[in-house]
Amino acid sequence: MTQDELKALVGRAAVEHVVPGAVVGVGTGSTVNCFIDELAKIKDRIAGAVSSSQKSTERLQAHGIAVLDANQVDSLPVYIDGADEIDHGGHMIKGGGAALTREKIVADMAERFVCIADASKLVQTLGRFPLPVEVIPMASGLVSRRLRALGGQPRVREGVVTDNGNVILDVTGLEIRDPAAMESDINNWPGVVTVGIFARNRAKVCLLGTPEGVRRLDF
Ligand code: A5P
Repeated sequence: MTQDELKALVGRAAVEHVVPGAVVGVGTGSTVNCFIDELAKIKDRIAGAVSSSQKSTERLQAHGIAVLDANQVDSLPVYIDGADEIDHGGHMIKGGGAALTREKIVADMAERFVCIADASKLVQTLGRFPLPVEVIPMASGLVSRRLRALGGQPRVREGVVTDNGNVILDVTGLEIRDPAAMESDINNWPGVVTVGIFARNRAKVCLLGTPEGVRRLDF
């Protein structure tokens, strides 16, 4: 099976985790695009969606799915999103699509994060995928120096401005042995909007696409 077929497989499987009658939180990325296309088939059975990016909003609306303002939603049982890496504890690196801040907001609103990913995303230790950090533009030099002091090599993602008007630093060379500690450390630095480590908002379930079918991991 190709990687695209694996993404389609988990996109389909994720529909079973949508709670009928409720609003669903929708992430961003190519795997989530497969999920959105499947969600369209049951759109009459949900109360709408909260979206984590402009791109997902456009795709949801193109299917006729109502996209609600996050501030109008009190209860969000499930958030469904992909990941750039996920470890065996459900901690993730996210932000390859530059949507990490809104993704973390919607993930935090939800009771349950269901991660959908192809098998290549499962790792022993987070950090091979460059860690995205969304930063207020005037702080990119300051934050880069601090990331270098941690042992990382940050690079500004060229040509990318986030939905929030900020820049992304992609950081290579970090071995993230304690995701929760590193998340709260970097998130405390002035100028950092969001670090792409999802430890506090880790997945409760991962639907992993493998050539043998969907493998479910519970954390
Ligand atoms: C978007 O900012 C990311 O967090 C995505 O969820 C992540 O990059 C996974 O994307 P794919 O499903 O395209 O691999």
